[in-house]
Amino acid sequence: MKLILLGPPGAGKGTQAKMLTERFGIPQIATGDILRGAVQAGTALGLQAKSFMDAGALVPDEVVIGIVRERLQQQDCVAGFILDGFPRTVAQADALQVSLESLGRRLDRVISLTVDADELVERLTGRRTCRSCGRGYHVTFDPPRSAQQCDACGGDLYQRDDDREETIRKRLTVYDQQTSPLIAYYRAAGSLTELDGMQPIPVVQEQVLVALQAG
Ligand code: AP5
Ligand code: MG
Ligand code: ZN
Repeated sequence: MKLILLGPPGAGKGTQAKMLTERFGIPQIATGDILRGAVQAGTALGLQAKSFMDAGALVPDEVVIGIVRERLQQQDCVAGFILDGFPRTVAQADALQVSLESLGRRLDRVISLTVDADELVERLTGRRTCRSCGRGYHVTFDPPRSAQQCDACGGDLYQRDDDREETIRKRLTVYDQQTSPLIAYYRAAGSLTELDGMQPIPVVQEQVLVALQAG
């Protein structure tokens, strides 16, 4: 299964991707997670990406396109993959198309999650993430059993640097301007399913699974 999860910051892309990864045993390729890992590790990529991420802006296309192109060639992607947070611009979508064609592969489905702006802000300000396994929580909507520890692996929970209200608003504007055109792009390609991401997490998951069967 080769899938893109599309949607604004806080729509639930990571939450749904983690559940699909467990269910199907295919990797989640989250460019945001890869970039945060690089920042944490202090690599050249991390140094380059940090100022963009802190400002809520997109990291330049050529940087993320290169990351994904290499990632898709790895052995664990043979059975399929879930792209989470990529592509985010038309240039990235075009480049993905070229990469997949060169590997002789095609996307099965693009799932777009729709959520109101006020709800997105509430979700992101309450989000907590596990430093070890990357699982996401929400202090109200999906609370961990203990405030500081991951239920799944016992790792420390942290709040992302870009989950401050001012940066969140900037990320939402960037989504509207640079990423939302991909909805029409994939609709025209006939591979888009739009889902109501305002529903509870398990309900969204169920509808994602139905969309994948239909695709
Ligand atoms: P990235 O890490 O991709 O962040 P994002 O797109 O802003 O999306 P989020 O991870 O914030 O949201 P999500 O949809 O995964 O929501 P989640 O499931 O966690 O990117 C970060 C930065 O990296 C970018 O700003 C950019 O600088 C750079 N970058 C990354 N990719 C790039 C690219 N391709 N090109 C250029 N730059 C790039 O859920 C959010 C919260 O809501 C959680 O607390 C969760 O528990 C809760 N929740 C989830 N679903 C529900 C539900 N149905 N009901 C109630 N609560 C829910
Ligand atoms: Mg995410
Ligand atoms: Zn964990």
